[in-house]
Amino acid sequence: MDKDIVLLAVESSCDETAAAVVRNGREVLSNVISSQIDLHTLYGGVVPEIASRKHIEKINQIIREALQKAGMTLKEMNGIAVTYGPGLVGPLLVGVSAAKAISFAANIPLIGVHHIEGHISANYIENKELKPPFVCLVASGGHSHLVLVKDYGEYEIIGRTRDDAAGEAFDKVARAIGLGYPGGPKIDKLSKEGNPEAIHFPRAKVEENAYDFSFSGLKSAVLNYLNACQMKGEEICKADVAASFQQAVVEVLVEHSIHAVKQYGYDKFAIAGGVASNSSLRAAFEERCRAEGIRFYYPSPILCTDNAAMIGTAGYYEYLRGVRSGLDLNAVPNLKLGERA
Ligand code: KG4
Ligand code: ZN
Repeated sequence: MDKDIVLLAVESSCDETAAAVVRNGREVLSNVISSQIDLHTLYGGVVPEIASRKHIEKINQIIREALQKAGMTLKEMNGIAVTYGPGLVGPLLVGVSAAKAISFAANIPLIGVHHIEGHISANYIENKELKPPFVCLVASGGHSHLVLVKDYGEYEIIGRTRDDAAGEAFDKVARAIGLGYPGGPKIDKLSKEGNPEAIHFPRAKVEENAYDFSFSGLKSAVLNYLNACQMKGEEICKADVAASFQQAVVEVLVEHSIHAVKQYGYDKFAIAGGVASNSSLRAAFEERCRAEGIRFYYPSPILCTDNAAMIGTAGYYEYLRGVRSGLDLNAVPNLKLGERA
């Protein structure tokens, strides 16, 4: 490589204020994340207005810390990458405004990054040999997408959720059994003490598209089960409910994904997003991919949930493709993958 490209990256699309410094797309020099989870736990979910205000309080400090930990200054940055969608508009605007101000003041290029492209790109950080094409399952609090990663920056979504995202289902079921927010990690932990075969919850198929997902029926089935137990005065084994629910989600995610990898003739598969840190999901994919002769990639849990290192990685490949955003870059809450606004 002729010259190193070092990017400062900023992420603030939901409830994590994050900044990172990434060299040549795959070398993370710093990755600072300030989570607001404790604040939102009080309300059982993310409160957008509170999230925006907290991002404003934190963002400068987090960016400074990211530069300090990398041992670098703003002058040494070749650009600044920032998530501009999809996400919550207020939180997104905080990151976008900060990045625009830095781009202008330091006279460095601005690169607007798609949040989901960031999640997918998290796989490049620890898997240095991974290159497109591959199939990626993105499962987070807001998204459940099956994506063909045809090349860097070139995506085709072949499956998506018709209703709730996988992480959303985890959060809602966790709330129903009194585990609190965020539900994913709590269900993951409690499931280890439960029997995944104890209760049979439905595995939804979407008629028109074998790669689409639907989780609202499963969520309702869990709620109905809890109500029925309550009416009959039966005691609920939370660990069994958690494990059986988790098993139903994992089975559907694995079946749809492996079907897609085989049908499209790919030999590499990756997972991304908060739900990708689920231990049972990782184990199920590991086993299935080994049996099918598919190479399986996944990021460390800290790179699965929202962070800025993944934005620095995605930003690097956009930078190489010549993508530069203007100072009129705006937050786009419903930005589509593969589209630029
Ligand atoms: O990617 P992410 O941090 O934010 C979004 O872009 O949405 O994902 C957060 C989601 C939450 O719904 C959370 O419950 C879920 O990921 N999650 C998990 C686990 N860790 C986080 N779901 C299942 N198992 C986990 N271990
Ligand atoms: Zn995310």
